[in-house]
Amino acid sequence: MAGGRFISFEGIDGSGKSTQARLLAEYLRGEGREVVLTREPGGAPGAEEIRRLLVEGAPERWSPESEILLFTAARRDHLEKTILPALEAGRIVISDRFADSTRVYQGATRGDLRAVVDRLHELMIGIEPDLTFIIDTEPKAALRRGLARESGEDRFEEFGLPFQEKLSAGFTALAEEFPARCKLIDGNRPPEEVAESVRAIARRALA
Ligand code: ADP
Ligand code: TYD
Repeated sequence: MAGGRFISFEGIDGSGKSTQARLLAEYLRGEGREVVLTREPGGAPGAEEIRRLLVEGAPERWSPESEILLFTAARRDHLEKTILPALEAGRIVISDRFADSTRVYQGATRGDLRAVVDRLHELMIGIEPDLTFIIDTEPKAALRRGLARESGEDRFEEFGLPFQEKLSAGFTALAEEFPARCKLIDGNRPPEEVAESVRAIARRALA
């Protein structure tokens, strides 16, 4: 990875992670760092095409097993076309979601498929971020924020509040599973306060 650093943001839908990914990218650019801000599903032209299949349409459109394959196909394209070239050029890559989303959404919430997710990840992706921020926001507030956007990309939000609550518990468990890499951040605060917590950790990690 020749000098580059890989940071991901995770959390339930509407938790505020895209806002925080953007604020961290702006901050680091202001410090003179070269930053590539990207997202999943998507982040490369082919992966963005796969994104539309996943985030639009009826909730039951895909089984959890089919979702694992589609998200992993999109991730492989994102990795080849965007993430690895940027890391090799020594840039900081900030991705709004990465493999932890598949571990929690498909591995622990949509299905009980964590072993499948892990095997496919090892076979096809094989890397983890250096640092992961999990934005931990109360599910009811996050769902309200997410649906208020009216983005037309609400397939996962439409699984409802119990689904978002299960996801939230899944992300907390993940932070306990990978304590060195995953930092749980309280997202129930104004964006600028959340951003300050994120910056403090990022500064230390990148020093
Ligand atoms: P996510 O990427 O997790 O789905 P976004 O960052 O897109 O979340 O935020 C979802 C909505 O909530 C947006 O309209 C955004 O402006 C708003 N928002 C983001 N962070 C906060 C916050 N800390 N408090 C209140 N609203 C927020
Ligand atoms: P995203 O655009 O980040 O949605 P939001 O802004 O609402 O958080 O991601 C699209 C949806 O895809 C989101 O509901 C989470 C889901 N998802 C998975 O189920 N598995 C995955 O591996 C990824 C990357 C996303």
